[in-house]
Amino acid sequence: MANEALRILDERTNADYSVPVNQGVIRAMDLRQIKTGPEDFGLMTYDPAFMNTASCKSAITFIDGDKGILRYRGYPIDQLAEKCTFLEVAYLILYGELPTEQQLKSWMNEITHHTMLHETTKRFLEGFRYDAHPMGMFISTVAALSTVYPEARDVHDPEKRKLQIHRLIGKVPTIAAYTYRHSLGFPYVYPDNDLSYTENFMNMLWRMAEPKYHPNPALARALDILFILHADHEQNCSANVMRAVGSSQADPYVSVAAAAAALSGPLHGGANEEVLKMLDEIGSKNRVPAYIEQVKAGHGKLMGFGHRIYKNYDPRARIIKWAADQVFAATGKNPKLEIALELERIALEDEYFIHRKLYPNVDFYSGIIYQALGFKPDMFTVLFAIPRTVGWLAQWQEMIEDPEQKIARPRQIYTGYAERNFVAIEKRVEQKLAAAR
Ligand code: ACO
Repeated sequence: MANEALRILDERTNADYSVPVNQGVIRAMDLRQIKTGPEDFGLMTYDPAFMNTASCKSAITFIDGDKGILRYRGYPIDQLAEKCTFLEVAYLILYGELPTEQQLKSWMNEITHHTMLHETTKRFLEGFRYDAHPMGMFISTVAALSTVYPEARDVHDPEKRKLQIHRLIGKVPTIAAYTYRHSLGFPYVYPDNDLSYTENFMNMLWRMAEPKYHPNPALARALDILFILHADHEQNCSANVMRAVGSSQADPYVSVAAAAAALSGPLHGGANEEVLKMLDEIGSKNRVPAYIEQVKAGHGKLMGFGHRIYKNYDPRARIIKWAADQVFAATGKNPKLEIALELERIALEDEYFIHRKLYPNVDFYSGIIYQALGFKPDMFTVLFAIPRTVGWLAQWQEMIEDPEQKIARPRQIYTGYAERNFVAIEKRVEQKLAAAR
């Protein structure tokens, strides 16, 4: 509604203020005028973990967490998952509209021709220990691409930006596949341009001595759907990192590496790996109730449950369950599914989870599918990072083009000492130290 305003009475001074409200939001900077006197800095908001702060305007992804709605550029996620390929959705997320047939053809051609890695990057990967975590290898190798493409630093040139976007989307599956082959001690497989994005990824992962790799179409489609579901999720932890690092005008390779580092944490994309560890720890269906009691008593969390935004069933988890059936039809059932279904059943009937609105999130079932496809749990977050690269790049591009954005720099409430005088070393008395900062 136009001309809405918030009236604020400052009881410290009895001054009255009117602050404009737009789309249900006030601008934090409008509070700065609220002062107790000329020396006062002005009112700030305090919002650890961004619980109630919008840091940007975005037209990419819409989520209604209470209703369990997720849309990319206005299109419901279930329609996109059912009718599109991952690259079609990637185009939509980046450019705002679904591609025409001709646009899709040239987009696929463009991405396919950026899948190769420079040989020095391949050798860089060879330097990792045999047991290096794939996510650590992925993050470091994406960052290392910054040294191969120094022109990427010119972030204000739209054409150069576009080229790096194509390169990154083309190369992340190759890097991911090479980290996998490295951990198995297998030779790297070069991309095959005859195959689709997901099929080529499978080729680079699993081709052995055969001259041509023929992916199972049902598994390729399931993986493509998983990629669609993971492509973007508005201002989550890693997207926020992408925007924050990108706001310093760092190049997109190091910014994507930073976002991937954020994704690797167990409370974010690393949760799918933790879900599998949890299911292993539980071991069998009859031990589920005891495990849930343990979580309720405050010993650990039910991994793959809960979400900052979704206070309803995560719409992606619903589609993933469907994709799981397609995969299991081809690979046979993952025995962990039985434990996961029992966990979900009991948790959804339990007052602790109902009261806190804790539902399965995207990570709860994705790991079970990935395992059925033949991946070890340490690859799961890398599989998440491939499609999410599209979301990070769309968020980055939007941030760069937004005239309101500047270098991201939050404020703080200082809680340390006021000024104190320097003490010479011979006069210092040992003090109890605060935890290392
Ligand atoms: N198991 C048990 N209790 C939980 C869980 C869980 N998975 N998640 C939240 N809770 C409880 C909290 O202990 C808290 O209880 P309290 O009110 O008694 O203190 C309450 O629910 C609210 O939780 P918060 O931690 O305040 O919620 P927040 O929004 O900060 O956290 C998060 C969201 C990080 C996703 C959390 O639910 C969690 O840690 N889940 C497990 C990890 C996970 O699956 N992460 C993947 C998220 S999806 C993604 O990133 C792709």
